[in-house]
Amino acid sequence: MASLRPLRTHPLPKTFFTASARSLATVSPTSSSTSKNDTGTAIVLLNMGGPSTIPEVSTFLSRLFADADLIPLGPLQKYLGPLIARRRTPKIEAQYTVIGGGSPIRRWSEIQAQGACKILDLSHPATAPHKPYVAFRYADPITEDTFLAMKRDGVRRAVAFTQYPQYSCSTTGSSLNELWRLAKKYDPEGQIEWSVIDRWPTHPGLVSVVARHVEEKLATYPADRRDNVVLLFSAHSLPMSVVNRGDPYPAEVAATVHAVMEKLGFKNAHRLVWQSQVGPSPWLGAQTSNTVESYVKKGQTDLLLIPIAFTSDHIETLHELDLEIIEETGQEGIKRAESLNGDPEFIQALADIAKSHLEGTQRSSKQMALRCPMCVSARCEAQKNFFATGKHPE
Ligand code: FES
Repeated sequence: MASLRPLRTHPLPKTFFTASARSLATVSPTSSSTSKNDTGTAIVLLNMGGPSTIPEVSTFLSRLFADADLIPLGPLQKYLGPLIARRRTPKIEAQYTVIGGGSPIRRWSEIQAQGACKILDLSHPATAPHKPYVAFRYADPITEDTFLAMKRDGVRRAVAFTQYPQYSCSTTGSSLNELWRLAKKYDPEGQIEWSVIDRWPTHPGLVSVVARHVEEKLATYPADRRDNVVLLFSAHSLPMSVVNRGDPYPAEVAATVHAVMEKLGFKNAHRLVWQSQVGPSPWLGAQTSNTVESYVKKGQTDLLLIPIAFTSDHIETLHELDLEIIEETGQEGIKRAESLNGDPEFIQALADIAKSHLEGTQRSSKQMALRCPMCVSARCEAQKNFFATGKHPE
């Protein structure tokens, strides 16, 4: 296990200090004087994470390929996972080297968590102070370390806030399975009371900031070409075995795309495409790279790629989209919309989502309790019982 470290404090990006947010700059996430709750509320951002440095790559990949929720490799997972991780390590290390020596996801997640908590302290003082935590599934700060830090900090009320806007059992489900396992192991007495923000695919704040990023990039095309740019919304793909189990992710990603297109007035043609397939088994397509290649061959060389399922830049945007696809094609008309990262409107959206959740009476969304039609996992059943009903693990 990696050593325990408190959440790093990052200076918020300059753009955070907009007129509407400037007054928040001096407010500490733990400084509310109107708190009715001494220990406040932990806001725990869940995500897969990424290696912040090159030496962390091999551990990251080992954890990733060991997770059958994310990459189901069948009964041989225990042997195949480490083998694939070892084989892929040098190539992935080289990719992280090219994008600056590591993934920026930890930095962005910490900025987002701190920013959202500062806003929440003002907008929802009843549950202040709001304490930011980040819990990654495969990289530091790994979920186990964060869980132990929360116990040590005396946390009694926590919100697990997925940073996958669209729910998949491979991603959010995997993080919640891990949290459930840790609650069973380290918190059998139920010191921490959990609730979950398990999905937010069409939240107006998310839709608005993605649409604005699209508009900003479209404005960089000559006016006479702008309306004919094809918008390619790109999301991480899923193995077809997961899709056919009845995973909600493809429908929820499509819902985000539709909401963004509605906001944009459907003024450009668009497609939803899928990236980052691994291994030979069938995955959900069409693949982003094949789509770009095919459209270019058909003469459509103005294409705008839009990351639609990530809340910050990481290797899938900075290497796969920017270098492997956009730079490789050598077409000046192929561009990418900005990721959400430290955009103040996005951080405000995170705070608004958390505020609505804290004001509500539900532990999770209604969807959360429903298992995939073909799910046979007892762990899913126990995890959903725990988070949707508060029933403590036995
Ligand atoms: Fe979806 Fe179990 S795999 S609920």
